[in-house]
Amino acid sequence: MTPQNTPVALGSDHAGTTMKAMLREALENAGHPVLDMGTQGTESVDYPDFANAVAAAVTEGKARFGVLVCGTGIGISIAANRHAGIRCALVHDVTGARLAREHNDANVLALGARVIGPEVALDALRAFLATEFAGGRHERRVKKLTPEWSPRS
Ligand code: RB5
Repeated sequence: MTPQNTPVALGSDHAGTTMKAMLREALENAGHPVLDMGTQGTESVDYPDFANAVAAAVTEGKARFGVLVCGTGIGISIAANRHAGIRCALVHDVTGARLAREHNDANVLALGARVIGPEVALDALRAFLATEFAGGRHERRVKKLTPEWSPRS
């Protein structure tokens, strides 16, 4: 995971703070600038608030990627994916993390702290940051994930 100047934005709810702190430390130790959008501590909070903060940082170009953690990763990934321009992938292993970048050009990684352990989470994050979008046939598919391609429009 080669460091770059643009930060990685981190966000979690109360169920994800310990995992977020561990990921933050690993990123900082590897030289990555980090934007920690909270939450801190274990007081009960609402995961959409932190998904929204990270999604905004990514869509506004203040962060190159986002990392979100809640208990399952489900709620926080749903919230992030409500933002145009966000492709948030909830993954449970390294292969999912790699393919989320390679095939889906995911720009936010979501993890479930009550579902996977810290080693898997860290390996997934490393794979996510190390993998480039493959483009090619995947480009056309990713374009169809934009609001302009909405099946409702
Ligand atoms: C919080 O208890 C929990 O619901 C949240 O962390 C997450 O798992 C929701 O999807």
